[in-house]
Amino acid sequence: MTVSIANGTRQLSIPGPSVLPDAVLNAMHRASPNIYGEDLVGLANSVYPDLCKVAGTSGDAVIYIGNGHAAWEASLCNTLSRGDKVLALVTGRFTLGWIDIAEPLGIEFEIMDFGGAASVDTAKVAEALERDKTHQIKAVITVHADTASSVLNDIPGLRNAMDAVGHPALLMVDCIASLACDRFLMDDWGVDVLVAACQKGLMTPAGLCFNFIGKKAWDAHAKADLKTGYWDWDRRVNGKVFYQKFCGTPPSHHLFGLRAALDMLLEEGMENVWQRHQRLAAGVWAAVDCWGGGREDGIRCNIADPSRRTTAVTTVQTGNLNATALREWCDSQAGVTLGIGLSLDAVFGGNPDNLFRIGHMGHLNAHMLLGTLATIDTGLKALGYEHGDAALDAAATAIANAR
Ligand SMILES: Cc1ncc(COP(=O)(O)O)c(C=O)c1O
Repeated sequence: MTVSIANGTRQLSIPGPSVLPDAVLNAMHRASPNIYGEDLVGLANSVYPDLCKVAGTSGDAVIYIGNGHAAWEASLCNTLSRGDKVLALVTGRFTLGWIDIAEPLGIEFEIMDFGGAASVDTAKVAEALERDKTHQIKAVITVHADTASSVLNDIPGLRNAMDAVGHPALLMVDCIASLACDRFLMDDWGVDVLVAACQKGLMTPAGLCFNFIGKKAWDAHAKADLKTGYWDWDRRVNGKVFYQKFCGTPPSHHLFGLRAALDMLLEEGMENVWQRHQRLAAGVWAAVDCWGGGREDGIRCNIADPSRRTTAVTTVQTGNLNATALREWCDSQAGVTLGIGLSLDAVFGGNPDNLFRIGHMGHLNAHMLLGTLATIDTGLKALGYEHGDAALDAAATAIANAR
């Protein structure tokens, strides 16, 4: 039996939760504050405008104590009525998860599935909306980046397609994986509701989620009959008392952590944050291409077109090589945890043996990412898996040259 080389600092390279910066952890390491004191109230109030900067909106932001599923439910309850229909654009797993939350609320849905390796075809969406002459569809829901397939959808293109056919449906976008990783400009791109959470690009422990609200979404809110006391945007945005913003005790420690994360992002500048992700992702894709050597049945990026890949996570197809064994080797033998593959069929569940995911979101720099790639390369060798040489050289060159 060979000696393990796993001891040392572990690296979490899964697509969320992401690596927590020391600054975030340190900001949370404190005694409970007075929840009515200015320290906390002032800090919380400072978070909203900065969240809006990250999302590219001058609209409103609402913070819930919850994960991404909570943000999904909130977005639906605040804009829709029982029996309303949504058009759900599926490019992997996560729009299906949103639908899973919508169905018990009595929301009707039409699913357009573009498969597990392609982005939304905006022309097909336009056709579907044009068929809806009586405007039964009240919202189009989709993900910006699908964390299962690692596809990046063209949100401005989708907005244009909706506008071109003059359909009044809301555009609601899940940026849970992409916010503060891939470029996103809510207002410029005409997004009505943006749904997000804190544990990926926002580098904060899971537990906070967000709805960002545009003007048209507020108009829908006025008519929505699924509103409940807890999710209601109005109470949280317009409540006179701080306590109402969170519908109860505020998530004080998470807010301190989020404040530190926002400081890091805004100090770096969103353009630079997006470019850092782009540059590091280019290294991942170069390594994957090299491992597979261009063979159709070999190791390859699930999304063929680089312009349609998210820079937050890469789903890697491993053909006839066992991805589970590779992940297990990296985890147990080398201290790097990779993301499991998620089934890309229309049916939920499963951790297929021919897929794994490399998370490259949030608090990440070149040496962390190159360490992950080098570990995968070592795992391929240790397991005797056939793979192309010089992947690390290709990654380093791509990162060095990417601008
Ligand atoms: C794109 C996307 N949407 C929604 C979710 C669900 O978020 P949560 O697990 O925090 O409920 C995830 C989680 O990975 C995700 O990646």
